[in-house]
Amino acid sequence: MRRLDQIVAAARQGRSAVLAFRGEAGVGKTALLDYAQAAAADLQVIRVDCVESEMELSFAAVHQLLRPFLATLDILPAPQRAALRLAFGMAEGQAPGRFLVGLAALGSSRTGCCGPPGSGPAPPPAAPGPCITL
Ligand SMILES: Nc1ncnc2c1ncn2[C@@H]1O[C@H](COP(=O)(O)OP(=O)(O)O)[C@@H](O)[C@H]1O
Ligand SMILES: [Mg+2]
Repeated sequence: MRRLDQIVAAARQGRSAVLAFRGEAGVGKTALLDYAQAAAADLQVIRVDCVESEMELSFAAVHQLLRPFLATLDILPAPQRAALRLAFGMAEGQAPGRFLVGLAALGSSRTGCCGPPGSGPAPPPAAPGPCITL
C-alpha cells in the first residue's frame, strides 16, 4: 500500500509508473486496486476490469481503456488512427498490428488525459489534469 501511495503521489506530479500484481485468485489483487482507486479519488481514474471470457477477444481491454477518449482519435497520426478504428470494429479491413495499436493507445490516452503535446488540458469528456490507469 505504501508503494501505491507513492505511485498516486507521483501521478499527481505528472510522473508515471507501472506496478503489476500477480497472484492466485483471492490473494487480494482487486482489494489493492480498490485501495489505489480510493487513494486517487482526486485524479482521473480509468479502470479496466477484464474477465476470462474476453481473453480471446483481441483488444477488448484496450477498448475499455480508450473508450473515454474515442473523441480524441482524430488527433492521432493517420496510420495509428486507422489501426485503432480497425481494432475497435469502427472500420473494415485486416486486423491491425499490435505495435501500431499500442502506439495509438499511448497517444490517445495521453491526449485524452493531458491534451495534445504542448497544449493545455483536454476538453470534456476527459477530465483535465493527471490521470491514473488501473
Ligand atoms: N489485506 C486484506 N485484509 C483482509 N481481507 C482482504 C485483504 N485483501 C483482500 N481481502 C479479502 O480477500 C478476498 C479476496 O480479495 P480480492 O482482492 O478479491 O482477491 P483477488 O482479486 O486477488 O482475487 C476479498 O473478500 C477481500 O475483501
Ligand atoms: Mg480480483
